Amino acid sequence: MSDVNPILSGSAQSIAAYQDAIEQSTKAVVEWLKQPEMYQGKTVEQLRERINLNFTSQGLGNQAAIERAVEYFLKDSLLVHHAQCVAHLHCPSLVISQAAEVLINATNQSMDSWDQSPSATIIEIKLIEWLREQVGYAAGDAGVFTSGGTQSNLMGLMLARDAFFARQGHSIQQNGLTGDLSKIKVFCSESAHFSVQKNMALMGLGYRSVTQVKTDAFSRMDLADLKDKLAQAKANGEQVMAIVATAGTTDAGAIDPLADIAALAAEHQIWMHVDAAWGGALLLSEKYRHFLNGLELADSVTLDFHKQFFQTISCGAFLLKDARHYELMRYQAAYLNSDFDEEHGVPNLVSKSLQTTRRFDALKLWMGLEALGKKQYAEIIDNGVTLARDVAEFVKTQPHLELVMEPQLASVLFRFRPQSDDMAFVALLNQRIGDVLLASGSANVGVTEADGVTCLKLTLLNPTVCLEDVKVLLASVKATAEQLLKA
Ligand SMILES: Cc1ncc(COP(=O)(O)O)c(C=O)c1O
Repeated sequence: MSDVNPILSGSAQSIAAYQDAIEQSTKAVVEWLKQPEMYQGKTVEQLRERINLNFTSQGLGNQAAIERAVEYFLKDSLLVHHAQCVAHLHCPSLVISQAAEVLINATNQSMDSWDQSPSATIIEIKLIEWLREQVGYAAGDAGVFTSGGTQSNLMGLMLARDAFFARQGHSIQQNGLTGDLSKIKVFCSESAHFSVQKNMALMGLGYRSVTQVKTDAFSRMDLADLKDKLAQAKANGEQVMAIVATAGTTDAGAIDPLADIAALAAEHQIWMHVDAAWGGALLLSEKYRHFLNGLELADSVTLDFHKQFFQTISCGAFLLKDARHYELMRYQAAYLNSDFDEEHGVPNLVSKSLQTTRRFDALKLWMGLEALGKKQYAEIIDNGVTLARDVAEFVKTQPHLELVMEPQLASVLFRFRPQSDDMAFVALLNQRIGDVLLASGSANVGVTEADGVTCLKLTLLNPTVCLEDVKVLLASVKATAEQLLKA
């Protein structure tokens, strides 16, 4: 059937095909954006039954392929910009981020070498320099854009591990892991992201290498327990290769006491990595920037722009305080970042990344900052934090709701409380409320745990959501709970 050139190029035929395909897709998106329901409510089984792959030998052509994507993908997608879509750190995206995606995708630059992304490489470097300045690091360009928080945390942990072994005269890069690995530990709080565990397993050190430090009533790392556990580790002959502090835990949005942790890390000569995947958004805040005091003391930092920076997935960054640590992962590939290139100052970013082929996601942040300006960006970030406080105050006035914790960033943890002290029953009821709301297509509320008991979570990133919208959602929570209790 193929009557059109399938490759994007400058030929008249390709340009016409491109414009047709993009126009057809954006028209469909516009219709989808206007859908009133957050989700059409289909079950796993229904979607499995409905979606089939239609790979014919002749091909369907662009138009039919797009029609099928609209029918089977778009219509049953979650409206992440919907006021009742508040389950996760999953943001609605900026309009300018969409425009950036058009440019990123059409140009298909690859960030591994300068000859595959000349202007993009320079823009990314300048953004890294700017981000370092925001964090409070010395001028420099040590850092790179990543696929998100998990990969940035991996880079921090990997360099921490390699620096730890390098201090003992051993190159992990050349010779791999060695010695009694059961003695090597990473510390993070009980509320740190699970990517710490997953990354440690990936790095050959296993979940057992992760020591979880207790948290206080606000899910922040407990300094007294950190001190005790550091002393205990020493007494056990263990060696701590890194402390991972979190600036913005996934549920509570808690920010660990960064400066105090940094002081302890320095005293014990331990690498400190800060996972600021969520809280890093406060770098732009006018009201709450001071929550991040101490971030500049970390050896490495994770930032994530597909959370409260409102960029499309994926878009994250890793920042490294001391550029010399990049030597620990140096690899010279003749076809990408040769010695010759390096001697001549050619910036091939593959040297700073775990990825080889890599998207130009930095463009989204660049265009976002230029389009919105720092003030508007600050406002949409601060909005979520302020709204969460207002919602918490409202929750406190509702006799059937229990506020689990005072908000710290833009999330509210709460429970529907029936007249029962049977916490297993309370947990199940709240789980079911979340499930029923999603199945009805009306709302996506987070279901998580606090102190081992299931609770609900509102992640209020969306700057177009106001207190009235949240009251509507809380009324649905109540109505759903009452229905479930009746049944
Ligand atoms: C605190 C924190 N760190 C890291 C991550 C992982 O980020 P990503 O999903 O971008 O890999 C998350 C995800 O929610 C997170 O909340």
